[in-house]
Order: sequence, then structure tokens, then C-alpha cells
Amino acid sequence: MEFTGIKEKTLILIKPDAIQRGLIGEVLTRFERKGLKVAGIKMMSLDEAVLREHYAHIADKPFFPGVSKFMQSSPVVAICVEGLEVVNAVRLITGITKAREAEAGSIRGDFAMSVACNVIHASDSVENAQKEVPRFFKVDELHSYDKGEYNHVYAEDERA
Ligand code: PPS
Repeated sequence: MEFTGIKEKTLILIKPDAIQRGLIGEVLTRFERKGLKVAGIKMMSLDEAVLREHYAHIADKPFFPGVSKFMQSSPVVAICVEGLEVVNAVRLITGITKAREAEAGSIRGDFAMSVACNVIHASDSVENAQKEVPRFFKVDELHSYDKGEYNHVYAEDERA
């Protein structure tokens, strides 16, 4: 998996609250209209093992059992998007974790009030994206293809 330049990749999970509220399209549209390329997308049910790995940094926190139960309460939609400095770009569109304080215009700022039910998860660093993308996508589930609009989304030197 290539993670450099215009092929930098990041992981987005559309969480159960957004699935229940019918926000899959809204969320995907935000990333598509930004000019990001969808490299992979699938609906999946998460089990305790993958959640313990994915949320290892909060596994000792008192709220982890609640997060785990919530994340198993319905399927999620996993999306891998790619683009130049895409990890940072996606975090800006996502907004801060505590959704009721997230900036208006961000996904969490526009659609959520909760810390746990905050619509999506997005990788918070390039290092974590490099671990999280393969956690949810096999190599053959990520697609490499030309996107005509790239000629208009990026300047020539940014595409090089
Ligand atoms: S972040 O966005 O990953 O940097 O957020 P972080 O603060 O590291 O929190 C990781 C995930 O834990 C959830 N979370 C909580 N749930 C319930 N109660 C409390 N207090 C709480 N604090 C954090 C939060 O939804 C984060 O999920 P992700 O999927 O990473 O957004």
C-alpha cells in the first residue's frame, strides 16, 4: 500500500449513530466534494477483538466498554480515501472529538452533540493511518484508478 504524496491514505469509519440517522450519503458527499478519491468502501460489523486493537489507547478508560458496545450496535461503513496530505484534510473536515464543541461546517459540528456518538472516526496521524487502513482493508479491497477530476483538483506540480 502506497501512502506517499497524492497517494496518502486515511481511514474513516461511519459510526453506528450515523448509520441509524441515515447520514452515510451526507458524510460521503463531504469527502467527495472536497476532491478526495475513494480507494475502498465497505459495510462491516466490528467485533470486540478489532475494537480492542483499534481503540488500544483508550482500552483502560472507564468509558471503553460503552464505546465498544456502541461500535457493535450496528454495522459501520469503512472508507479509505486518498489525496495529498489527506490525513490532515480529513481531520479538519471531521472536527474535534467532543462534537458539541466542534466547529460549525465540520461534520461533527454540523451533525452531532456527543463525544462517543460523533458520526465518524478518522485517523489522527499519518502513522496511525498506516496502521488503521490495513486493519480494515485487505490489499485487494483498495483500488487504484485514474480520476479525471484530479486535473482540476490539484495543480500539476502537486500531482507529480
Ligand atoms: S480522537 O479523535 O481519536 O483523537 O479522540 P480521543 O480523545 O483519542 O478518543 C478516542 C475515542 O474515544 C471516544 N471517547 C469517548 N467516548 C465516551 N466518553 C468519553 N469521555 C470519550 N472520550 C473519547 C471518542 O469517540 C473517540 O472515538 P474516535 O472513533 O477515535 O473518534
